[in-house]
Amino acid sequence: LAKQKEELINLHKDCFEYFQEQLYLRKNIEAAKYIIKRRIAKDTAKRFGLGFCPEKNDLYDRLSQKYPKEIIDLSGIFLERNGKNYCRFEGRLIFPIFDTMNRVIAFCGRIISDTSAPKYMNSPDTLIFSKSRILYGLNIAKQSKEREFVVVEGYMDVIALHQEGIDNAVGVLGTALTQDHSFLLRRYKNEVVLCLDSDEAGKKAAIRSADILYQNGLMVRVMELEGAKDPDEYIKKFGKDAFLLKKQNSMFVIDYKVKELKNQYDLTKSDQKFRFVREYFEKILTPISNEVERQEYIKKLSVLTGVDENVISKEFSKTTQK
Ligand code: CTP
Ligand code: MN
Ligand code: MN
Ligand code: MN
Ligand code: MN
Repeated sequence: LAKQKEELINLHKDCFEYFQEQLYLRKNIEAAKYIIKRRIAKDTAKRFGLGFCPEKNDLYDRLSQKYPKEIIDLSGIFLERNGKNYCRFEGRLIFPIFDTMNRVIAFCGRIISDTSAPKYMNSPDTLIFSKSRILYGLNIAKQSKEREFVVVEGYMDVIALHQEGIDNAVGVLGTALTQDHSFLLRRYKNEVVLCLDSDEAGKKAAIRSADILYQNGLMVRVMELEGAKDPDEYIKKFGKDAFLLKKQNSMFVIDYKVKELKNQYDLTKSDQKFRFVREYFEKILTPISNEVERQEYIKKLSVLTGVDENVISKEFSKTTQK
């Protein structure tokens, strides 16, 4: 197994070099044009090791001369169709995925022209790659002097932020944030700012992800972007300083949850107020394990509803005894 892993690492390194070379070839000018269109500078592309996989390529044959078929299959890079092997990233811009030791362990490819194909294509999980245990850009961001990580959704988000000097950005690879991601982050820092896409899916994911991070001991804040669908678009439209200001004004996770919850109710109406209190118990107070922090949010509920603090405490302790 150790031998197989080592071979897989070597194979990924060879593919990585091949893809990178291809990006700068005249015949693949479409890929270079796409990088320009996305406003990725040359040195940024180099730093992230971006590459291209041409439609027509001899990658499989090249690798066959050096690695046994078994290893090539285990890499997950190829798909078999009618007895022929195709690279799953054909026609795509390549984002190599590095582990924290700077080894390439997987790839992702983005389509560069309008087709009905899925926008992104990832390596499947393999002996050396597990999607839920990797954060894109962590190999670079782990060295950042900032006291927190900025967690974003996409490859392009990570790259755009780093290009503007925000060197603590990392991305979840289009999957839900997991406990393993929390452990990974906590190895380096204990604060996180979540900056997910501003669509409904992103907002839902923010609350879910924030809960996981917070419950694993990280200090979490949530950043909201207005006027842009994601951090990549935001920083290109409004610039670095606007982004940093937003980051500075990001809300502590529990305050963010309170705000989102409050927006769903009209607290001037008794029945809505009662339902709000019940949800507040369940979604805000119950997940807080620290008594000091819980006391603080009981006080806040009292201010929001005009209900006496002691009454809230008494009622809440009833619900936890059940
Ligand atoms: N993703 C994926 N497969 C898809 C779509 C998305 O794996 N078919 C993952 C990718 O990691 C992607 C992230 O989810 O970066 C966020 O998706 P989305 O917001 O839709 O894309 P963007 O990152 O904004 O991509 P782009 O700006 O290139 O359109
Ligand atoms: Mn998204
Ligand atoms: Mn985007
Ligand atoms: Mn996006
Ligand atoms: Mn700028």
